[in-house]
Amino acid sequence: MWSAGGILATTLVVLTAVGAVPLDINDDDSIKKAAATVAKGMMNYYKGNLPGQTPGEIEGYYWWEVGGMMGALIDYWYYTGDTQYNDAVIQAIPWQATPNSDFMPANQTSSEANDDQAFWAFTALSAAELGFPNPPASQPQYIAAAQGAFNTMVARWDNTTCNGGLHWQFNEFHSGYNYKSSIANGGLFTIGARLWAYTQNETYYDWANKVYDWLDSVGAIGPDGQIFDGVDSASDCKGKVYTQWTYNAGVFLHGAAAMYAHTTGAEQDKWRARIELILNQALSKFFEDPQNKTMAEMACEHNKPGQGYCDADQLSFKTYLGRSFGFIALLAPWTYNLTAPYLQVTAQSAAQSCSGGSDGVTCGTKWWVDGWDGEWGLGQQMCALEVILPNLVSNVKAPFTEFDGGTSKGNATAGTGGSKTVFKYTSVISTGDRVGAGAITGLILIGVVSGAWWLMI
Ligand SMILES: *[C@@H]1O[C@H](CO)[C@@H](O)[C@H](O)[C@H]1NC(C)=O
Ligand SMILES: *[C@@H]1O[C@H](CO)[C@@H](O)[C@H](O)[C@H]1NC(C)=O
Ligand SMILES: *[C@@H]1O[C@H](CO)[C@@H](O)[C@H](O)[C@H]1NC(C)=O
Ligand SMILES: *[C@@H]1O[C@H](CO)[C@@H](O)[C@H](O)[C@H]1NC(C)=O
Ligand SMILES: *[C@@H]1O[C@H](CO)[C@@H](O)[C@H](O)[C@H]1NC(C)=O
Ligand SMILES: *[C@@H]1O[C@H](CO)[C@@H](O)[C@H](O)[C@H]1NC(C)=O
Repeated sequence: MWSAGGILATTLVVLTAVGAVPLDINDDDSIKKAAATVAKGMMNYYKGNLPGQTPGEIEGYYWWEVGGMMGALIDYWYYTGDTQYNDAVIQAIPWQATPNSDFMPANQTSSEANDDQAFWAFTALSAAELGFPNPPASQPQYIAAAQGAFNTMVARWDNTTCNGGLHWQFNEFHSGYNYKSSIANGGLFTIGARLWAYTQNETYYDWANKVYDWLDSVGAIGPDGQIFDGVDSASDCKGKVYTQWTYNAGVFLHGAAAMYAHTTGAEQDKWRARIELILNQALSKFFEDPQNKTMAEMACEHNKPGQGYCDADQLSFKTYLGRSFGFIALLAPWTYNLTAPYLQVTAQSAAQSCSGGSDGVTCGTKWWVDGWDGEWGLGQQMCALEVILPNLVSNVKAPFTEFDGGTSKGNATAGTGGSKTVFKYTSVISTGDRVGAGAITGLILIGVVSGAWWLMI
């Protein structure tokens, strides 16, 4: 965060409000132009496609967020048809999948957690589902990489506490190991659901159901469709962190919609009810008052000095709720009637916030204030992009599966064998590391042991 911020801070000396991102929500060309401007601002952060740089990494940002950004670039291509960033994505996904096809690159595994891996897998799934150009056959393929992530995550399922669940961290020595976070488990649920949708392999279907039911059973999913942050495995999941984040709702909605789209009868009705519950909760929780349907990260955006502002991770979370509104509109079309008014207002609010920085089109954090709020970063660009794009959803097709046009090659055994067991849990440590109320996912360092701690100073 600081290194990227440092670069921008220098340019901000010459700050003038030279522009804004115009957006006419009723004009597809205007929406595409706005998306192009915001995407360009997002790509200003990415150097991984330049000689001597590492594809899929951005100095100063966590690895998972770059995975999410690659997904935003895929969505950008899908909704607008602009191919200019495709090469960077086709390079980065196989690179970070590594030849093992599982998104466990050696550079990351000391600090990587289940949720980090899941976000890259989401991106690989989107590439396959949306018919994004495949990498050369000699490189890891999208579906194989998602299967590799799935297989390695499933191997970490731990029923010695809470009758199941994935720990947030998969390295036992990390703070956060004793936490079974909703994003890690929701990540596995959604990867399972989407792999089931794409391959019709029953193993994925079974796991998607098993993980969702488990989340329900420990109360990580609330009676009104709340997705709480997670449960404390050291207290056998009696302790919970009740904070709600936009990305959890988005990830769960996406998985539930994949299940809905590929089931029938009473089972489909069950998924429809779940989508309705989570969606209505999200619409009432993550938007400003009914007069202004602007999306906001309520857990941190409205905080006053001293209460803690949104951290670098949290600044990117709205990306996933925005993205989900597009995908669920494709998989469960009746949801669009509910989401469209919110998407329209939010896209306009986000666009008007993109009026800062030396380029005059830098996006801010808080879209409910007039104009740019003085903040900038990769997450802000991602969020704005992913709330603008779904307004084009009526122009695009539903995701492919391998039976109706999907061309990505799978490997059902990817991620099995090899050194993966090193990262499997062997025991549950009991330390003072227990996650307390303040220690919500985004606030605990992912890179406690790696050199990433300095990011939070
Ligand atoms: C790991 O780090 C090295 C050194 O920075 C880099 O050359 C390599 O590309 C990285 N590998 C991956 C998969 O990112
Ligand atoms: C826990 O998981 C193991 C391995 O999958 C299984 O053999 C065992 O029956 C499970 N125990 C319970 C209580 O579900
Ligand atoms: C959306 O709402 C309109 C007006 O209320 C209705 O006519 C239409 O059938 C709805 N569409 C779907 C897909 O539910
Ligand atoms: C919502 O808030 C944004 C940001 O302040 C503002 O630009 C917009 O006009 C508001 N929209 C409505 C419908 O009140
Ligand atoms: C289904 O997926 C699982 C998990 O990836 C794999 O072990 C199994 O071989 C697959 N089955 C088929 C028929 O491909
Ligand atoms: C599939 O994955 C397994 C396990 O990593 C690996 O041994 C095998 O070579 C892969 N198959 C293909 C076709 O890549």
